[in-house]
Amino acid sequence: MNNLLITGYGDDLNINGIRLGDLSPKDHETIELDKGGQNYSPLENVVVSHVKDSSTLICRKPAKNEIDKYVEEELLDGLCCYSAVNQGQLNQTIVDAVIHHLNNEKIPTVPRSIRHKYMSGFLLASTAFTEMDRVVPKVAGVESWELTFKLCRRWGYEVKNIPANKCIIVGATGNFHGRSMAATSMSDDPDTQNNFGPFLPGIELVPFNDFDALKKLFEEKGEYIAAFSVEPIQGEAGVIIPDEDYWPKVAKLCKKHNILLAFDEVQTGFGRTGKNFAHQLYNVKPDIMGCGKAAGGGILPVSFVAGRDDVVGVLTPGSEGSTFGGYPLASVVGIYAIKSLIDEQLTQNANIRGQQLISGLNQIKNDFPDKIKEVRGKGLLTAFEMHNATHLDGHKVSVNLLSQGIYAKETHHSTVRLAPALTINESQVNTLLTAIRQVIKDI
Ligand SMILES: Cc1ncc(COP(=O)(O)O)c(C=O)c1O
Repeated sequence: MNNLLITGYGDDLNINGIRLGDLSPKDHETIELDKGGQNYSPLENVVVSHVKDSSTLICRKPAKNEIDKYVEEELLDGLCCYSAVNQGQLNQTIVDAVIHHLNNEKIPTVPRSIRHKYMSGFLLASTAFTEMDRVVPKVAGVESWELTFKLCRRWGYEVKNIPANKCIIVGATGNFHGRSMAATSMSDDPDTQNNFGPFLPGIELVPFNDFDALKKLFEEKGEYIAAFSVEPIQGEAGVIIPDEDYWPKVAKLCKKHNILLAFDEVQTGFGRTGKNFAHQLYNVKPDIMGCGKAAGGGILPVSFVAGRDDVVGVLTPGSEGSTFGGYPLASVVGIYAIKSLIDEQLTQNANIRGQQLISGLNQIKNDFPDKIKEVRGKGLLTAFEMHNATHLDGHKVSVNLLSQGIYAKETHHSTVRLAPALTINESQVNTLLTAIRQVIKDI
């Protein structure tokens, strides 16, 4: 017999006599340290509670007195769940669609082995939005990348005629594609790989943005290479932007060697960079791409692969699948995540507010050239990198920003990424910049 009793909602949610609203930030930390797997080290002394507006969270911090468990403060969301919430927290269009379909349309939960009407809606919307022939739904971002990886291998054998088990997928150093075994195998980050081997064979890495290295590899092993699988702009690596002519040259080279260009647009897609997809910044088109994060507007995990007919066409029944990939509610969320992006002109806003943010960051760099080394960004995918010095510590900057009411997080020791919701307005960008200026001045 299990004596577990769960009652209430929100702060009144009560698990065996423990009411969430009664927990202090320290209590939350203790429970997580005690009962969770330690795969994250969250910012200390802050617990997010709820949403105020599309870019503002309400968080709880330790109370200054002995009586209260916490104080509540506003937090401007400079990260928006690693670009999963491009449409803004609790985007009304998506929330209304979810509530309407649950309450009024009596939306079912069924797997893909029986057709449901919302899949057609999702396929029509997502193929039109991506300008691709075919779309296959998945759930997490990493699954979309993993499926592109599998499809590229199968295409390599069945269309390019690579000899059995000889297929190579080329990736870029500094990549991040998620946490599956294939993604871990492609990583070159020691923390990511430590004691998770043996790794998947058939993967080779070239330095990101190094055209000559790629050309040399293609010339040496091109007949075995099915795809170059890569982020158009490297997000987790600290917003690394390639040279303007890199992708056009790579796309041409891939064509020459009959090698697929497979983009991971999980972080860069859905308006983030000021275009619907980052590859559009460079006037190239991948043969296949993986999307995730904002594909579900931050409301549900929704991801998908979009690609050319002959590439996605190698799929056969039974060779791939996902219980929740494209299930009715995910399809609805996927449709309205696209609709909100279009109707609210969020890609355009990313462009306008991105320019404001990047030029503001550059002004801070100009005023503190001994502290900030470089500002990088496209649209609202931005970062500033500090010089390599112990006191110029990205984590300390994140902690100090937190005390100024800003949520941002370092990516490496000296880089801080800023990727707010695409709904952010002019005065909120100014608030971000004022806080960053103060923190950089003081550090
Ligand atoms: C480029 C890229 N690909 C894949 C992923 C993995 O997505 P998820 O964490 O949803 O599996 C991420 C996550 O940050 C990412 O940035």
